[in-house]
Amino acid sequence: MASASATLLKSSPVLDKSEWVKGQSIRHASATTVRCHPAAASVLTVKASYADELVKTAKTIASPGRGILAMDESNATCGKRLASIGLENTEANRQAYRTLLVTVPGLGEYISGAILFEETLYQSTVDGRKMVDVLVEQNIVPGIKVDKGLVPLAGSNNESWCQGLDGLASRSAAYYQQGARFAKWRTVVSIPNGPSALAVKEAAWGLARYAAISQDNGLVPIVEPEILLDGEHGIDRTFEVAQKVWAEVFYYLAENNVMFEGILLKPSMVTPGAECKDKATPQQVAEYTLKLLHRRIPPAVPGIMFLSGGQSEVEATLNLNAMNQSPNPWHVSFSYARALQNTCLKTWGGRPENVKPAQETLLVRAKANSLAQLGKYTGEGESEEAKKGMFVKGYVY
Ligand code: 13P
Repeated sequence: MASASATLLKSSPVLDKSEWVKGQSIRHASATTVRCHPAAASVLTVKASYADELVKTAKTIASPGRGILAMDESNATCGKRLASIGLENTEANRQAYRTLLVTVPGLGEYISGAILFEETLYQSTVDGRKMVDVLVEQNIVPGIKVDKGLVPLAGSNNESWCQGLDGLASRSAAYYQQGARFAKWRTVVSIPNGPSALAVKEAAWGLARYAAISQDNGLVPIVEPEILLDGEHGIDRTFEVAQKVWAEVFYYLAENNVMFEGILLKPSMVTPGAECKDKATPQQVAEYTLKLLHRRIPPAVPGIMFLSGGQSEVEATLNLNAMNQSPNPWHVSFSYARALQNTCLKTWGGRPENVKPAQETLLVRAKANSLAQLGKYTGEGESEEAKKGMFVKGYVY
């Protein structure tokens, strides 16, 4: 299989160009052995070969004024997006749309990483260049969604669990070879359905196993336990559930010997449920969310890249901006799909003549979120479209 067709990352604050050269092959991890206790028979093995690279990749993605473009919609979800603009869910249409996204001129100034669906990782643009090459030329690190989606969790209160651990090590090695340097696993927790202790434990354990396997294969894991917006509950209830979820996630990450310096988090912001009558201001969302992060997230974690979860484009940017009004121990940024792509998709509408204006709208959103990452977004001049919420009940990705 062709190895990282990635040519070179342009000068980056952290990554060395030499580490991104064409033809890079998989490195076989050597293990350093760390004895917990001299007298104990049990040993902890921590693979050292990728450690430095993982830290560098995570820091590159968490670089000032930049965040992640999530464009890893599964074929089913991408089909829904295309249907909303009257297009059929064909490979050619998905390719045309993803080509539009990755070729936005200057995107790398604001976007440090792009999460791809497997099809896109192995796909070329409409003019025949590898998508991963185009990203690397833009100074954007390619990433890959590795989970296999949600299925019902037997024995729970109508909750779900996330599949994908079987064969994950060999898939991850192949993704690395293809040019991916980080991964994403999204599992969900539902507040109206409990969440049950079983569902939280399963979500946390699955994320931790995935994170360990990713690091073993050179991919920085994005750890994403999405607490769904669905529900009528208030912000305090979301805060309570989020504390529980993140406590378990970090407990199992530590049990699985995951190196915290080489991960990124993708939390939901702490907000009231979508159907709650009390709405929260960006300042309230920031206050609750930062309180949660301070209580649960060690400062060794380099970056916290929020999902947008159905917020409007403007709301997601305002909330991020509010969280960056004073320095944080971690890079607090974005990994949005809907809140970056919505206006862009609508502007494109599947018409070749609209590619350029659509690309401009993506750049506007990327820049707005870049400013929000730096705490300098003013919210001026936003369109009505960008203010529309995108919450969908029972949303799957
Ligand atoms: P949204 O920003 O649309 O919630 O996307 C979440 C996600 O996990 C994409 O990778």
